[in-house]
Amino acid sequence: MRVLVTAGPTREYIDPVRYLSNDSSGQMGFRIAAEAAQREAKVTLVHGPVALGTPPGVRAVAVVSAQEMADACRKVWPGCDALVMAAAVADYRPKAAFRTKHKKTGKRLCLALLPTEDILAALACGRRPGQVVIGFALEDRNGRANARSKLCRKKLDAIVLNTPAAIGAKVSEVQLLIAGGKWTRLPTADKSRHAAAIVDVLASLLAKRRAGRNTHR
Ligand code: CTP
Repeated sequence: MRVLVTAGPTREYIDPVRYLSNDSSGQMGFRIAAEAAQREAKVTLVHGPVALGTPPGVRAVAVVSAQEMADACRKVWPGCDALVMAAAVADYRPKAAFRTKHKKTGKRLCLALLPTEDILAALACGRRPGQVVIGFALEDRNGRANARSKLCRKKLDAIVLNTPAAIGAKVSEVQLLIAGGKWTRLPTADKSRHAAAIVDVLASLLAKRRAGRNTHR
């Protein structure tokens, strides 16, 4: 099994010392990568700026911006069987970054922002038959409805729903939805437990794909 996992935030620089980002610690993605590697998967972990060590047996690719994450993922994705997109990718980037540190003027400053590419949707859309894609949804309201619509819109095989309380926390509460199935609420637990449950889902989706392909032969 060859798996691409993404983790952590991205940073979208405004000038050489300031950026737009979020509080993601990268823990969930790193644990998923570690768990998959323990199960003999070949894992590439594309991650934004985090303070975490690379898990044993994992190939890590460090990136900064959403564009760099998209480029790094595109290089690896064709050779993978599955994607777990746990990264908290910034949705917007400054239209133009100042080349030097921006001096304050005391006046109002308006920043024009452009949307970043939705990496998950793009990789899922361009996948070859048999590749499995699991996404995440971070929701502070209407969690299940919003996550289900992301699952459909981005053409995912499964989605992991969590709340802002999970950001940076050791313990989290997550819910899982496999396409065409019902919600499963995982008990509040350490993120390693949830990572194991997510890799279980991944393994079973891949096994089903393989069995399906063999039957059609
Ligand atoms: N994602 C992505 N590229 C982006 C934004 C998000 O690949 N530019 C991925 C995330 O890694 C996650 C999923 O899309 O797996 C959902 O991310 P989330 O932040 O919950 O939702 P968004 O799609 O960004 O939508 P919104 O912020 O409106 O809820």
